[in-house]
Amino acid sequence: MKKTVLVSGGAGFIGSHVTVELLESGYEVVVADNFSNCDTTCFEGVKKITGRDDLPLVRMDFCDPAAVDRLFGEYDIDAVIHFAAFKAVGESVEKPVMYYKNNLESFLNVLEAAENHGGCNVLFSSSATVYGEPDQVPVTEQSPRKPATSPYGNTKQMCEDILRDAVKASKGLLKGILLRYFNPIGAHPSALIGELPRGVPNNLVPFITQTAIGRRECLSIFGNDYPTPDGTCLRDYIDIVDLAKAHVCAVSRMLDGKMKADCEVFNIGTGRPVSVLELVNAFEKVNKVKLNYRFAPRRAGDVTAIWADPSLANREMGWKAERSVEDTLAAAWAWEKHLAGK
Ligand code: UD1
Repeated sequence: MKKTVLVSGGAGFIGSHVTVELLESGYEVVVADNFSNCDTTCFEGVKKITGRDDLPLVRMDFCDPAAVDRLFGEYDIDAVIHFAAFKAVGESVEKPVMYYKNNLESFLNVLEAAENHGGCNVLFSSSATVYGEPDQVPVTEQSPRKPATSPYGNTKQMCEDILRDAVKASKGLLKGILLRYFNPIGAHPSALIGELPRGVPNNLVPFITQTAIGRRECLSIFGNDYPTPDGTCLRDYIDIVDLAKAHVCAVSRMLDGKMKADCEVFNIGTGRPVSVLELVNAFEKVNKVKLNYRFAPRRAGDVTAIWADPSLANREMGWKAERSVEDTLAAAWAWEKHLAGK
């Protein structure tokens, strides 16, 4: 019997890539999404890639407790991966109540429904943002969490704590894994799914690809006076397909009884720091395009340098980031061209 994984926010950027990898690894998937920050492009792409025209899609809002409870009643859910959340750092500073309400309520509803239906394995999508400006790099799972600098970051920390407490109190009904993503970038090699930011992108790679295709005039590199080798910030850019595969490893770890504690946390990154300028240069080189960019002042809230020590995930989950930055940037470019119909 196939195990069933509920993917909340499964029509979005990360959710759609995870759905593909789960299906290709023999899991059954129920995609649930309220389409508040995406359209059906990626869901349709997932169906095409996997040949699963019958893939279940539930249009629903995870802030509606009755709808979440119904979902758990309707399907026999073995594990849930919770992506459904708002994720724009700047917007969260302007609309904190909206962020807390959406990101906390939706997760609490998942946990409540999971408990009401006999328990579940819960994977929460967390972020390296919980480490803030680290004292030491690379960061391990033991590195201290720093006070969040935005309501968005705070919701990630709070959901981590909520899951930990809920697992602890559940007497074995709930098990949890927190995956702390570094900077997910790229697209599926088929170019049928990828990142679809609404409006002006906040994140670096969509801004690069949109500039290269001509939708944006010029990329601003925020700060070239950081204490780093070339003056620009260092990040750990993780390929979206590699990241998606980490979810399959985490789900099977939970379902196959391989966990060493009831709530575990893993960094999901490459362990390789790349500067903004290096990323821009790599994009130009691998895709043979010239990018219009200029140096601009630092962006408020940016940390100088952060990258992962992913050895725990490597060792414990048997997962390792495999794709090169060049392959990832080629995939991101292929996706942007696909969107532009080129
Ligand atoms: C950001 C969020 C982080 C979130 C992650 C999700 C902040 C402070 N952090 O990470 O909480 O989990 O996205 O993907 O917003 N850059 C430019 N020009 C641009 C855009 C970005 O130079 O137009 C630079 C940034 O200054 C940074 C790097 O590129 O040094 C990466 O930026 P971004 O893609 O926004 O990710 P983070 O800020 O690392």
